[in-house]
Amino acid sequence: MKKTDNQALVIFGASGDLTERKLIPAVFNLFCGGFLPESYAVIGVSRSEFTDEEYRIKVVFNNEHLKGKSTATEENLERFAKLVFYQAVDTKNIETYGQLKNRLEQLDQEITTKNNYIFYLATPPSLYQTIANGLAENGLNGNTDGWSRLIVEKPFGYDLESAKALNKGLLCSFSEEQIYRIDHYLGKETVQNMFVTRFANSIFEPLWNRNYIHRIEITAAEHVGVEKRGGYYDSSGALRDMIQNHLFQLVALVAMEPPVRPDAESIRNEKLKVFQSLRAYTDQDIKENVIRGQYLNSTVRGEAVKGYREEEGVQDQSKTETYVAMKFFIDNWRWADVPFYIRTGKSMPTRVTEVVIHFKPNHHHLFAHDSSLSNQQNVLVIRIQPNEGILLKFDMKIPGAGFNTEQVNMDFKYDELSNVYVPDAYERLILDCMQGDATLYARGDSTEAAWEFIDPILKAWENDESIPVYGYPAGTWGPENADNLIDGENMNWRYPCSNLTDDGNYCEL
Ligand code: NDP
Ligand code: BG6
Repeated sequence: MKKTDNQALVIFGASGDLTERKLIPAVFNLFCGGFLPESYAVIGVSRSEFTDEEYRIKVVFNNEHLKGKSTATEENLERFAKLVFYQAVDTKNIETYGQLKNRLEQLDQEITTKNNYIFYLATPPSLYQTIANGLAENGLNGNTDGWSRLIVEKPFGYDLESAKALNKGLLCSFSEEQIYRIDHYLGKETVQNMFVTRFANSIFEPLWNRNYIHRIEITAAEHVGVEKRGGYYDSSGALRDMIQNHLFQLVALVAMEPPVRPDAESIRNEKLKVFQSLRAYTDQDIKENVIRGQYLNSTVRGEAVKGYREEEGVQDQSKTETYVAMKFFIDNWRWADVPFYIRTGKSMPTRVTEVVIHFKPNHHHLFAHDSSLSNQQNVLVIRIQPNEGILLKFDMKIPGAGFNTEQVNMDFKYDELSNVYVPDAYERLILDCMQGDATLYARGDSTEAAWEFIDPILKAWENDESIPVYGYPAGTWGPENADNLIDGENMNWRYPCSNLTDDGNYCEL
């Protein structure tokens, strides 16, 4: 196990939703798992006034997201709460950083965190650069003794220009090695397993190219709508919220070349090349290959479900997309002319994220006469969530006379590893940052490269009124037009069920 230095985690945005829902539970899990160093502290920072004790009550003792855990015993909560502190700071006011610095110095004396800090930016994104500058101006950017790292939450930029400006702004105060751009999809165990599936098994990689793969499909569907985040979502939309970051990270892992070594720079170099090889869209391509949709009110399993425009914080005439499906190409030696289809949406029939590799059919179908089925494709499904696992579909002989064939499933499910603890994505990523490992964080250049591909779509949607936003009833798989994106006779999206191995056109969700 890697050594973890004594250190403190300073969370900006400490009174917010993300801190309570994800960050504190992640650190609590690390505490219970024995992953925290001997001297450790969490210091919450936001404008609201709390004493340490009041803050501990809010994020530890009264935190609904800790309550269900078997590890959340009274004793563990008491011991964990002693590591948690709070300092009120208005990060827009440069004067108040001095108070934070004094508090950190005082805690450092008491707890010996060795001036090693992770500053986690979980505030509105407009403050990221301000906070980085404020820290640097007060000598908290690790240029004295100890180290400082900066975790930056998504969204990283609003478009290409703002992402470039943010990168440039952060680099005035911190070096690239100190900046950890978080994408929680990379912390998911099954996403990392994709890397291992490809590069640890000799059976897949020889087939992983244009000679054997017909198309690649990635779906990230959510059953929930925008919930309480309508205000944020309405100025974001699915393209910025899910595609530019989470889905593109999955694309990069599926499409990248084998890295020279399994380290941060080698892996991130290969991912960057994938983004650089994306075939740029023309305006006409955008019209033909990118479908946007928005959910409409509907009845799902007997219950009325709101349409997007009725959600709190959303404008009455909003054209923000809650669904995107797109087809694109990666112009390189491995993937020339292999279509990639990706889609994401809110208010869909179920919550599922999966990568589907469709292999090319046989060149010659020997059993065409006997088989009731046409020459079928082998399919490899990598299920990211839920029911995490891997499924391979292949043809078998139906017992009896002749050579009738049928497609069967060979599957592995993660929950079969019953004794293995699977860490939550935030838990894994925070631990990596604590140990200075940036492998699962996005690098500045690849963030910009991903925006470079997305930017023309945002501009076209903004400027070209003729590009429709299709409505789809909440609880369905999105606009039907998205089916037309898939090339080939009888080819369609895979409509996944809640269980990995369930198949067919109809299934219970
Ligand atoms: P919230 O609105 O719930 O929290 C924002 C936090 O920022 C509050 O603690 C607020 O506290 C603090 N804040 C605002 N202005 C200042 C200021 N001037 N100085 C100091 N603190 C300030 O947002 P979320 O927790 O939902 O999101 C935080 C970030 O994380 C956002 O960038 C979001 O995009 C990202 N994110 C959130 C996810 C989620 O599920 N919530 C998922 C992925 C990313 P106070 O008002 O007390 O100052
Ligand atoms: C977040 C998006 O980054 O990812 C949310 O802002 C989305 O809109 C969430 O719901 C999905 O994450 P997960 O882990 O539930 O698939």
